[in-house]
Amino acid sequence: MKMADAEFVQGFIRMANDGWEQGWHERNGGNLSYRVKPEEVQQVKDQIRPGEWKATGTSVPGLAGEYFLVTGSGKYFRNVILDPEDSICMIQLDEAGENYRIVWGLVNGGRPTSELPSHLMNHEVKMTASGGKHRVIYHAHTTNVIALTFVLPLEDKVFTRELWEMATECPVVFPDGVGVVPWMVPGGREIAVATSRLMKKYDVAIWAHHGIFVSGEDFDLTFGLMHTVEKSAEILVKMLSMQPDKRQTITPGNFRDLARDFQVTLPEEFLYEK
Ligand code: 13P
Ligand code: ZN
Repeated sequence: MKMADAEFVQGFIRMANDGWEQGWHERNGGNLSYRVKPEEVQQVKDQIRPGEWKATGTSVPGLAGEYFLVTGSGKYFRNVILDPEDSICMIQLDEAGENYRIVWGLVNGGRPTSELPSHLMNHEVKMTASGGKHRVIYHAHTTNVIALTFVLPLEDKVFTRELWEMATECPVVFPDGVGVVPWMVPGGREIAVATSRLMKKYDVAIWAHHGIFVSGEDFDLTFGLMHTVEKSAEILVKMLSMQPDKRQTITPGNFRDLARDFQVTLPEEFLYEK
């Protein structure tokens, strides 16, 4: 089967294009990775042409030998749907989880996203925490979440509570809350370590003045998570633009009622009195 015809590659392309259409991927902003299932690797094995081993910039022994679809560094999300072979690639990790080789794609040269250390370290943490279910890591430059990182304290408990309050379904979609990474230089191991530490607890990590990382089981759930968080942030930005305080809101008691009826656990650390 041609790589771009495979269902998992189509799903990856559609998600990248959906993100572009949301306005989250100016220029080469954002990146996406998918941990490919063994049976999916089998479907496209005649398309695989292994290249040279190169350093990932980190060490993820828990992901030894795994294959990933990844966006290319400097590549534009708006072009993924037009020319996937130029914009994305499939990579394989070595047995130490320290080196990768491109096995398909990036036909005009290039390398996987500069955020590969963050993607791989998040994959390693989330794969373990989810018993192998999480397969998608997505980084986007979501306008409203970024705007909020200039006005809210950069604290997990503040971002979680404010985003939960903006839409009733938010605590059901991300009941564990969201983590916040202070401003750091992107593209390296240091920000990857900080992000993956938060990913042990959350499915969402906000990068101050930069964007968000989310993790999920499949393309729908992961895109939906990004979309829900960003929409909530948009409502908060609109609300703060109208007046600095809320006339009424969802209370800690309301959240406890919601948790009971929707059978989710909402940590009490986020249900503080203000
Ligand atoms: P890449 O083009 O290397 O993926 O970088 C984009 C980005 O958003 C960096 O944080
Ligand atoms: Zn970025």
